[in-house]
Amino acid sequence: MVTRIKQITILSPTALFLLVLLVFNSVQCRRAPAAPTGLITDKAMVVSAREEASAIGVAVLEKGGNAFDAMVATELALAVAYPFAGNLGGGGFMVYRKANGDVGSLDYREKAPLSATKDMYLDSLGNVIPGMSTVGATAVGVPGTIAGVFEVHAKMGSLPMNEILKPVIEFAEKGAVVTENQAARWDHYRDQILEVNGEETLFYTTCRAGDTLHFPNLARTLKRIMENGRDEFYNGETAKKLASFIQEKGGFVTEEDLAKYEAVWRQPVIFKYKDLRIISMSPPSSGGVTINQIFKMIEPHDIGDFDHNSPEAIQLLTEAFRRAYADRNYYLGDPDFVDIPLDFLLNDRYLSKRMETFSFEQATKSEDVSHGTVEIIESAETTHYSIVDAEGNAVSATTTLNGAYGSKLYCDELGFFLNNEMDDFSAKPGVPNMFGLIGAEANSIAPEKRMLSSMTPTIVEKDGALWLVVGTPGGSTIITAVAQTILNAYEFNLSMQQSVEAPRFHHQWLPDFIIFEPDGFPESTKEALKAKGYLINEGRTPVIGKVDAIRVLADGRLEGGADPRGDDKAVGY
Ligand code: GLY
Repeated sequence: MVTRIKQITILSPTALFLLVLLVFNSVQCRRAPAAPTGLITDKAMVVSAREEASAIGVAVLEKGGNAFDAMVATELALAVAYPFAGNLGGGGFMVYRKANGDVGSLDYREKAPLSATKDMYLDSLGNVIPGMSTVGATAVGVPGTIAGVFEVHAKMGSLPMNEILKPVIEFAEKGAVVTENQAARWDHYRDQILEVNGEETLFYTTCRAGDTLHFPNLARTLKRIMENGRDEFYNGETAKKLASFIQEKGGFVTEEDLAKYEAVWRQPVIFKYKDLRIISMSPPSSGGVTINQIFKMIEPHDIGDFDHNSPEAIQLLTEAFRRAYADRNYYLGDPDFVDIPLDFLLNDRYLSKRMETFSFEQATKSEDVSHGTVEIIESAETTHYSIVDAEGNAVSATTTLNGAYGSKLYCDELGFFLNNEMDDFSAKPGVPNMFGLIGAEANSIAPEKRMLSSMTPTIVEKDGALWLVVGTPGGSTIITAVAQTILNAYEFNLSMQQSVEAPRFHHQWLPDFIIFEPDGFPESTKEALKAKGYLINEGRTPVIGKVDAIRVLADGRLEGGADPRGDDKAVGY
């Protein structure tokens, strides 16, 4: 606070007046909720990476299903409409809030196979074998998606499973239309998919925008799952075919691994930020813990008093990001294998102490923030969807194959890609994987362990009522993108759609620089930060996340926030 008063006293009287006006306006604005600019619906909504997947979820809601039924349909429809990340061969996390206020979360993250060892990706000299944890069958973890959707349905679904799966099966048969964005991605990854699967692969390797892609084998797999239930995937014919396919290709996942897989209900991370109550994913995702640390570190500084994306707001967030990410990989891993000191990491006194070295005058150096050996650069190819039903139940789910098309290994007979989630472990603590990730002991490989994730499906209550449902893909940038989206809506009074569209930045402690989205930030902002010692990645950087979110308006209607960085779409009624 003292620092800020000092800043004001060196301004000219006119600048001071404008600043006071700006602060006054922003305080005023925050009193009246932002007018919506995204899709508005009266009752229910699904926002996902593809319009077809959102529409299938909404159709389930319209025929009387609830948000949990719609989750099952949307999740599996994304495997058809968005095979880049939508999946049967991967896993994810889901946070829910029921209309009665009950909250919870499901971990359907992949697991390491039983034969996994700490050194499985190292050669005889102890060096990481390039590609082994990222490409092809050796990279595949035990998939969790089918267990996840059946677990959700068994606990909270309302429609019979066949009524939910039928439209998805029809969609796989009828086919999905390729978008411009998808065609460009196909071009980019075609050679890698061919290299892993051979020229004779049944996955479409030559396709153009506007083509319709049919997935008859995926439809057959889904039909068997509809007829025989969850066990079809983990103990039945599908399990046999899947395990023998992965092993023929040199991978580790066996029938026993599939038979032992279980999705796990976890206590979500829940914390207060001013009058918000934020509910997010607990370990083995790092999302909830890290976002909790970030919000608690910035809370004493009233970020909303600064302009949106002003140098001061960026500075404050960057310093919180830096400190939270320094803790993130050092301490976090699968809670069934590692003792995570959550009471300590989320303690208010600890977090305020972490910010004692923060000053608006000068950047902190990451080398001065412990723990100094962990770098996180994760694959960004995940997908998120948000759902609110007519009763007010909410689902926030993020699902992934890890890399684009996962390991690139496509099972022709079953009709889906397999993940390369094993790369989210630290293959060798202290040594970077091919994405530059240097992991810590807490995230080392062990049989049946779940690899650390950044996925941050989140639900926000305001004054005790459902307010936001939010999440995004983006690897290690997921957490900072979700934090900025919530702050855009709450502190900077942007509509849901504007909050999603606003340019984003990212800092993750190491490497010690800020990444800005292309064209989103004026040079003057970057110069002001550089003058205070911040390092900025000057190269052309990719977009940060594709946020799909829903805001509940004061009158109970819903506003969608569908990210224009992708083909994402809000659909509802
Ligand atoms: N594979 C990306 C994540 O789990 O964060």
